[in-house]
Amino acid sequence: MNAADSTLLSRYGGNLPRYTSYPTAAQFTDAVGPDDSRAWLSSLPADQPVSLYLHVPFCDTLCRFCGCNTAVLRNADARSAYAALLHEELRRVIALIGPGRRVTHLQWGGGTPTTLPASAMRRVMDAIRRDFDIAPDAEISIEVDPRHLPPDYPAVLHELGFNRASMGVQDLDASVQQACGRIQSWEQTRDCLEALRGAGVASINIDLIYGLPRQDTEGVARTAQAVASLGPDRLAVFGYAHVPWKQKRQTLMPVGELPCAEDRISQRAAMDGVLRAAGFLPVGLDHYVSPDDSMAHALKAGRLHRNFQGYTTDSAPVLIGIGASAISALPGGMTQNAVSAAAYARLMARPDSLPVARGVRLQEDDRARADIIEQIMCAMQVDLDAMGARHGLPASHFDAECDRLAPMVADGLVTLAGHDVRVTEKGRPFVRHVAAIFDRYLTAQSSTRHASAL
Ligand SMILES: C[S@@+](CC[C@H](N)C(=O)[O-])C[C@H]1O[C@@H](n2cnc3c(N)ncnc32)[C@H](O)[C@@H]1O
Ligand code: SF4
Repeated sequence: MNAADSTLLSRYGGNLPRYTSYPTAAQFTDAVGPDDSRAWLSSLPADQPVSLYLHVPFCDTLCRFCGCNTAVLRNADARSAYAALLHEELRRVIALIGPGRRVTHLQWGGGTPTTLPASAMRRVMDAIRRDFDIAPDAEISIEVDPRHLPPDYPAVLHELGFNRASMGVQDLDASVQQACGRIQSWEQTRDCLEALRGAGVASINIDLIYGLPRQDTEGVARTAQAVASLGPDRLAVFGYAHVPWKQKRQTLMPVGELPCAEDRISQRAAMDGVLRAAGFLPVGLDHYVSPDDSMAHALKAGRLHRNFQGYTTDSAPVLIGIGASAISALPGGMTQNAVSAAAYARLMARPDSLPVARGVRLQEDDRARADIIEQIMCAMQVDLDAMGARHGLPASHFDAECDRLAPMVADGLVTLAGHDVRVTEKGRPFVRHVAAIFDRYLTAQSSTRHASAL
């Protein structure tokens, strides 16, 4: 790392949101609840397509690095009972939005959704197919853990219509895996990928992480190379989010061996170099895609989006989240269900009530900023005049933000021509800093709730 890079790091350290939504979840309060959700869902226009997200907060074993709210639930009947709650929540939502609603995107995430017994997964998917109208070209995806995917599951997933699976790898180095409490051989990853593709689940995403304890630049480059050789369709390269105030099990890792900010940036750069050389195209902050993948086409056509699950090709402006902690994005605002499985079950025990615990009501200014931030995070550029016009705002509305971009322009991270903002390749790792300029809720104090921005 040269002196100029160190100066950049000293200016752009700190913590920032990942901007999978704006306003971010930090703005959610209990001033929004089930009644708002009910009103927003029932006023959706009949021809409005939606995306569905179903959340399963269980895993077979817990990884110490993981920031997700997950638990191990040994009892298969209890996991089936959770699936029955998902089914019931869907029923309550359908009572509000009407049957036969078009679904353009269907995603199961977690945790590890394949911890649901196959019969329980089948019941929920059958109900969705019966009560919704799934678009023929819909992406139907699921997160799987290569260490624990039951042998019969790939065929079940294919039969239920899944066409994409996303699997965690993180790092292949034995000492890093030891530190993170996630032991997973390259062969396990390869076999899982081959089993899924062999069963007909054609598109595969793989997650990698840099910034974990004991990682170094050579090691992450080796992992990126080995994983690229498996030919996944997409890779996510996440910076490790150290949030011990939210996730205590992270303190069980050797945190004294966490890489510093300079090392994180070098690791990210090394993985970036390997993946680009292997033919993957960089997408936004943290994705790499094969040029044949639908996300590459969406990027080219300006149809890339970002939602709570990260980058997506899904253009439906309405996302309905089902299950514990799931977030919905509706025209009136965003809502989040009760976070723990127990709290979710308690709210679901109230007949015909929605299990919503908090949320945020959107103002017109929020909608404009959400569009701007999504454009920056996806296309790495935004025309503020066009955005202002779309939201009925004068060209001067974001002048103060343009002024605040000046240091980033001076550092070569951004170019600014009139109201046209473009993030440079040098600025790509700093894209969250550019987005944050347009976040009117972010304060020095609130930023401590987020993870490291680099
Ligand atoms: C919700 S997990 C589901 C993955 C699946 N259960 C598995 O283990 O293969 C999705 C991804 O989130 C990422 N992730 C989890 N905790 C993280 C953290 N603290 N920092 C960065 N990424 C994290 C990991 O890359 C993980 O593969
Ligand atoms: S990485 Fe996956 S398996 Fe590990 S705790 Fe997180 S969600 Fe569970």
